[in-house]
This record gives sequence, C-alpha cells and structure tokens, in this order.
Amino acid sequence: ELVEQIRAHDYAYYVLARPTISDEEYDRLYRELVELEKRFPQLVTPDSPTQRVGGQPLKEFPQVRHTIPMMSLDNTYSIGELQEFVQRVHRLLPGEKPTWCVEPKVDGVAVSLRYENGVFVQGATRGDGTVGDDITSNLRTIRSLPLKIPVPRSLSRGGGKKSSKAPKVPRVLEVRGEVFMPKEAFEKFNEERRQAGEEPFANPRNATAGTLKQLDPRVVASRPLDIVLYAIGVVEGDSTPPTQYELLGWLAELGFRVPEWYRRCEDWDSLVQAIDELNQVRSSLPYETDGAVVKLDRFDLRDRCGATSKAPRWAIAYKYGSSRAQTRIKNIVIQVGRTGALTPVAELEPVHIAGTIVSRATLHNEDEIRRKDIRIGDLVVVEKAGEIIPEVVEVIKAARTGKETPFEFPKQCPVCGAPVTRQTLSGEEGAIWRCTNRYCPAQVKARIEHWCRRDAMDIEGAGTVLIEQLVDKRLVKDVADLYELTVPQVAALERMGKKSAQNFLRAVEASKKQDLWRLIHGLGILHVGAGVAKVLARHYATLDDLANASEEELRNIPEIGPIIAKSIVAWFQDPENRALIERLRKLGLNFRSSLYEGAAAEKPLAGKTFVITGTIPGMTRDEVTRLIEEHGGRVASSVSRKTDYLVVGEEPGSKLQKAQQLGVPTISKEELMAMIQRG
Ligand code: IVH
Repeated sequence: ELVEQIRAHDYAYYVLARPTISDEEYDRLYRELVELEKRFPQLVTPDSPTQRVGGQPLKEFPQVRHTIPMMSLDNTYSIGELQEFVQRVHRLLPGEKPTWCVEPKVDGVAVSLRYENGVFVQGATRGDGTVGDDITSNLRTIRSLPLKIPVPRSLSRGGGKKSSKAPKVPRVLEVRGEVFMPKEAFEKFNEERRQAGEEPFANPRNATAGTLKQLDPRVVASRPLDIVLYAIGVVEGDSTPPTQYELLGWLAELGFRVPEWYRRCEDWDSLVQAIDELNQVRSSLPYETDGAVVKLDRFDLRDRCGATSKAPRWAIAYKYGSSRAQTRIKNIVIQVGRTGALTPVAELEPVHIAGTIVSRATLHNEDEIRRKDIRIGDLVVVEKAGEIIPEVVEVIKAARTGKETPFEFPKQCPVCGAPVTRQTLSGEEGAIWRCTNRYCPAQVKARIEHWCRRDAMDIEGAGTVLIEQLVDKRLVKDVADLYELTVPQVAALERMGKKSAQNFLRAVEASKKQDLWRLIHGLGILHVGAGVAKVLARHYATLDDLANASEEELRNIPEIGPIIAKSIVAWFQDPENRALIERLRKLGLNFRSSLYEGAAAEKPLAGKTFVITGTIPGMTRDEVTRLIEEHGGRVASSVSRKTDYLVVGEEPGSKLQKAQQLGVPTISKEELMAMIQRG
C-alpha cells in the first residue's frame, strides 16, 4: 500500500509537476517504507520507489539489439521542402487524406524502455540504431520514469486500489523517447561543476549524454535527468492506439511523461500554423527544441510509406532558425570528389554565421548556378543549416554593378583534364558532371581517404597530407596498393619518419581484419553509406555473396531501393572493380560478415511479407507472427502492394477487401502451415 502511495505521489510530483502533499509528508512516507523494507527484506520488490539507485558500478554496458530499429529523422529548414515532403506522402498514399501530428523535437538522447507485464525491465540507448547500450540502472534513477505501469493516479488515503479507468497494459511494451536535462537544472548543475573546478558541459544535451554514459548509477542519480516519451517499439499482447495523437494520450494515461505540447493537423494550413505556434512556445518548454517533428498520424498509413535505411518516409523534422548572412563571392572553384563528381564551390569574403566563420559555400551543380544566376563578384545570401555545408541561397541582384562575371562550367576535369559526363556507373543521367578518369588524382585521393575513414576501415594516421603524397608520388593508385607499401617508401615522405611509417603500416595491416560492413562502406559504391553497408552485411555472409546478388534480390531487402540496388550491381559488374576485389582477397582482407543474420535466406518463408486478418483458430496473433518470423518471413500490419500473402482467419476484417482490390493472394492457416513444411 505504501509503495503504491509513493508511486502515485512521485507521478504527481515528477510527471504532472502538481504535488499533492508537502515534502515533509512525502519524506515521512518514504522513510516508513525504508524502515519496513529493512525489517522485511523479503518484501522488497524491484519496482519499489526505494530501488531506483542500485547495483554495482559496471565495467562496461552490455549491448541490446533493437528488434525494431531506432531510426533517425530527415530534416529540413525550409517550408518549401516541408511542403514537398507532404506532397510526397500524398503521392505514396493515393486515395487517402493524411492527417499529421506535430510535436517538439526534443534535443536530448534517444532511449528505448522495455516493460514486461507492466514492470520496467530494460532500457537502452539508440546506439547505431540497431544495437545500443543497456543503461537500465541509469534510467531507473530518473524519477519521472515509471518503474511500473499503469501508475496509480489519484489515491484515496490509505487505499491501494487502482483507478478504474486505467488502460490495459500490453504484456510486452517498448516505449521510446528522449532523456534530457531540464534547462534550468542544467544551468545550476553546470555552475556547481564550475565551483568544484570541474569541466562544465557545453549544453544540456552533452550533459545528458555524458551522464547516461556513467557506469555508476549513483552518479547518474545525483544529476537532474528527466524523460519524455513519444513512440512505441515492440508490443506483444493487447493492441495499442491507431494514431500518434491517441498514442500520446494513451502513454500519458499509463503514467509516462509525454511532450506538453502537441497538435493534430488535418491539412497544410493548420500544419504551418502548428509549426508557428510551437515556435512561439518552445522557449518556455523545459527542454531545448530546435524544431518541430511532423509525423503522419495514422500508423497503418505509415507502414505503407516505408523507410530508407536511415529514416522513415512518414516523418520529418522541421528546424527553426536557420542562420543566414550576406557576403560577396570572390571566386568559384571546382572540387573533384571520390565518385568523380565536380562540385562548384564559392569562395566567399569571410562572414560570421551562428558562431563560426564561413568562407566557402557549396553551389551544388551547374544547374543550380544557372537557376540562381550566380556570378563571381555577386553579393549573396549564405545559409548555414545545422552541420550541413553552408549554401548560397540567393543572389542580391539589386546590388549588381555589371562587373560580375558568369561562371563557365568546365568541359574537362580541372584536375586531370579528362572529359566529363553526366552519367553514373549504372547509366543514370544526373545533374552532376563527373570526371571519367578513375585514376584522376583527385578521385584517387578522395577514395583512399574514404577507405581510411573512422566509419570505414578506420586506419589511423591516414591524414590528408600523407595521402596526397602517396598518390602524387605514384606509390598508391587504389586502396589495394596501401597494403603493399613498405616502411622505407613511407618513411621517405615529408613529415614522416621510420617510427610514424611503421605505425601507419601497422594500422593498415590491422585493417585487414575489419568487419565486412566497413569494407563495403570503404569501397565507396555510389549511394552506399555506412548505414546501407550494415544492412548489406546483415543480409550477406560474404563479400562474394553480395557481389553475386542480382538487382531484384537486392531490391527485396526492405531498406534497399531500386537506385541503390542498381548502383551496387553496376559496381560489381565493372571489370576493374572485380580486379580490385581479387587483389584485396589475395592480400588477405576479411570478406566475412559478423553481422550476418543467419541463414534466413534458406528458410521457407524468406523474403515474403505476410499480413494477418481475423482470428487464426487455436493460435494467438503473436504466435502466428512468431511462427512466420521464425521461418524467415516478415509480418506487416497493413496490406499494400508489397504484401505477398494475406493470412485469413475467422471473421476477417477490411484487410481482406483491400487484398482483393490489390490482387494480393490470400491463404488459410492450413496453407501457411503447408508452405512452412514444404520448405
Ligand atoms: S520520432 C523514426 N519524435 O530525433 C522516428 N524523434 O533526428 C524517430 N527526437 O532519433 C523518432 N524529438 O532521438 C521523434 N518528438 C520526437 C522527437 C524525436 C526528438 C529525436 C530522436 C531521433 C532523432 C532524429
């Protein structure tokens, strides 16, 4: 009874910020519980309010795999792009009238909380989206995080009875949101650190991240962290609300803290209005927000929009307050990148924008220069959007004197003189001119740098200066050459000695063992970043399996679209790339993937997507789902063109009609079983 009372008071105090008793009364209750638990230790439960800080400091955090990946969000600073996003979603959902939910973008650290039978059992960081750190003990110390749900609401004194309207809690419920340090608490905390001679944190987000990394939960408990929740992950058992808007209400009813401001919008105008309104109120929110998250409200429609390997197509973050300034273009130069892309760059008269000095800005491509009519000598508006490279957004034409000179886009590579083309390796015609000489020194340097990147082969000591020399002295023309360098060759270079040459070559040698996803990323295949490389390394056991994959096979991987698939196949078809792979093999590089997710491809339902409707006799929905998944299939929640089979049980719902409309085959439980056994 005491536990329940204290939990209700914690909720009133930490979540609602409306305490119902005085601090003294609360302390008395808490002390009484501590005394009782001391006398009857067998009665202490893990969800008791006294158990928030516990356990020994860890050596390192165990890893947690997210069954449903924790994705990031695409973002934009422009209302025009927001409108394009909305229109794209409309196109993805013909015949539907999408509505939206707008929420603050909380600038904290993303986490996932797992509840089993209402009890908080595990909490994890986002990590790389697939695997994160198990920080359960740290999260338990956050007082607004319920150790048990639903939280008892109003309690008549002395009564432990639950409020009758409390919603049912699914057997397994994963809730996702953001840990943050409230702005005011951060100022105070940082001041205390300064007083103590400790390094202050740069901002609340860093303070939060730094705190959650602590291996000793007592340290975490001493710092003012808080949490808001806005999404769910895995759910087993009872169903959850059908829309984002209702989900937030439901989470609040269970006792979670949710964003204090959110709106449902029926159309474009109200969406823009909501975004404006949030901009007015955001400074009064307890956490920092740099934008609004716009989410498709209905979950069934979200499934139909899908996702890229990084972010869902049904949501976007609109960021406020991009920073702009005016300056003059001194010159326009061309940079040649790893894929041969010729990127025009404006050299600017240096100008202060949002705390940094900007002296270069990208002009993207020839068409952009023409469209904006950008000339050397122009006065222009430059914008710095987040971490993205600054960009010239417009020309102040009224300031022209007539002395400005239009820019002639080169017809040859400015570095090696080779002809340029607008075609990519896979034959795609684009807006970008590319140098056609794969041994163009600029391309080679950029490819080597890319290979050595932290999120590719991670070769320490491979700085720009060293790589420039290796390429200019013709010691290296591709990444395989790195592995044939000798100490005397490297030691003879400028700013190198025997010691540093040895260190560098040791790092090169060690990289042979790197995991396959790093190697795939390092190859620099157009459109294959680290995220896509990991997806591929989960699907393919070896590089050879990937090299032999067909476009169709690749496209069947949910995160891989047609453009990526085409690009991968084209890359591996290229004879020189094939030769490079063979050299890397002979040199002893690792081609095996540790991320490979088992022989899913050999399972009978591999690559097939199922949707279930109605009651399947003798089985729960979860059991059917698990059965399908165990045999390599996937289960989606709504029927779309990508659905392979609809499993129809008793009393089927509207999904049956939908499947018939789209021509999706329907099967019975017996047919499903037969498919599994045939395999
Ligand atoms: S939804 C798959 N809602 O922003 C959709 N995310 O840049 C992502 N974030 O990793 C989660 N406020 O950590 C969502 N109201 C909000 C958010 C939010 C902040 C974070 C989240 C995500 C990151 C993406």
